[in-house]
Amino acid sequence: MTKNSPAYMMEKITSLSKRRGFIYQGSEIYGGLAGTYDYGPLGTALKNNIKNIWWRMFVDGRDDMYGMDASILMNPNTWVTTGHVQGFADPLSECTKCKRRFRTDQIDDKTKCPECGGELGPERQFNMMLKTQVGAMEDSSSISYLRPETAQGMFVNFKNVVDSFHPKMPFGLGQIGKAFRNEITPRDFIFRLRELEQMEVEYFVKESDWQRAFEEWRVAMNTFIKAVGIDTTRVHEVEIGDADRAHYSKRTIDFEFEYPFGQKELYGLAYRTDFDLSRHSEASKVDLSYRDEEAGERFIPHCIEPSFGLDRTMLAVLLSAYTEDTMGDSPREYLKFHPRVAPIKTAVSPLLKNKPELVSKAREVYTMLKKDIPQIMWDDNGNVGKRYRRQDEIGTPFCVTIDFDTLGETPDLKDTVTIRDRDTGEQKRMLIGDLKSYIMEQIK
Ligand code: GAP
Repeated sequence: MTKNSPAYMMEKITSLSKRRGFIYQGSEIYGGLAGTYDYGPLGTALKNNIKNIWWRMFVDGRDDMYGMDASILMNPNTWVTTGHVQGFADPLSECTKCKRRFRTDQIDDKTKCPECGGELGPERQFNMMLKTQVGAMEDSSSISYLRPETAQGMFVNFKNVVDSFHPKMPFGLGQIGKAFRNEITPRDFIFRLRELEQMEVEYFVKESDWQRAFEEWRVAMNTFIKAVGIDTTRVHEVEIGDADRAHYSKRTIDFEFEYPFGQKELYGLAYRTDFDLSRHSEASKVDLSYRDEEAGERFIPHCIEPSFGLDRTMLAVLLSAYTEDTMGDSPREYLKFHPRVAPIKTAVSPLLKNKPELVSKAREVYTMLKKDIPQIMWDDNGNVGKRYRRQDEIGTPFCVTIDFDTLGETPDLKDTVTIRDRDTGEQKRMLIGDLKSYIMEQIK
């Protein structure tokens, strides 16, 4: 495997993620389940930090947005109305020899099995919704689906939110949650999953306002990409042509990221017109129009949808942060996270773990910081050099060390500690009393 080849990069990210507790194969002890991954302690912290940034930026930080948390299970008529039952499908062929299944739109030679060279059977449409039974009866009346997108949970609650809050147009709903797709070929680590998480906004506008709102969200999506520390030079906006757009969309921009395995979709921004509200209105017989009191008119709002895959955000953040360099005389691999997303903001250590006076002072500093900055780690394993390397590997931006000068061995330095910067390896001395505000400023 050559250095910096796609396989090398993916192997590095996958093995570091597993070794250091970011991402594990789903139900690994039973041999795994294709298309599922479990987030470990550091992965969960990183994911929560990303979700919090998203929620603050797109829900709490705005006056025109309302947060939602709708059920994963929905009345199955929802998916008939949206067209998912009939049309949420990918083209599939099965190898007549090895019985493996492939997405035919992803292979060049549609007649030959890419794995064993056997003959591929006829192409058919494979519906990607995951079916389940709801309730005690196991017949066709109890069939439901695990939602394939979070979006519909917001469309079906449009009227509820309007009736509760009487929002002025334009306004939107935002939601973070799981979605499920029975992908034919889950692959590329957490890129194509069967159980995934989405962060979606449905932003309702008057038809005449859609272009302005689309542009506003295009800019906002780029602001988010930068805020979570994704390498913006590897992100490309791609206008999707008429033939390739989803049936409900009049304009779509895909935000694509240069993954090691190719430039592929990270996020989507779509103008969904009034498709969803009109269809749900018709099918449910519930009037989903909006009355604009000022203009004295009633209409079905149009919708702009910025859709963010959370797992793809994780992958792009990890790939953007992964860095190899040489520090001192030895090579190092580390995660150069923006401090805002780093799962651990600061590690606190006593210089020596067998000196009770150092340990006790370090515990004091740790407890003081943890009160306001919960993502702090106590680390007294091995020597200081090894601790720094371990913290670098998980992307901890600062390491604080309590030494004899802290205790007053050099009187002028009493009550100061060293704080080491992950990226440069430089250490400076800082008063314990200044630590909290310094770290808080960096993680904003
Ligand atoms: N509501 C619109 C919608 O769901 P989509 O393009 O099908 O649109 C939105 O999905 C986002 O969800 C994608 O841009 C991607 O980030 C993420 N996504 C879609 N399928 C995925 C999968 N199988 N695994 C991981 N993420 C996925």
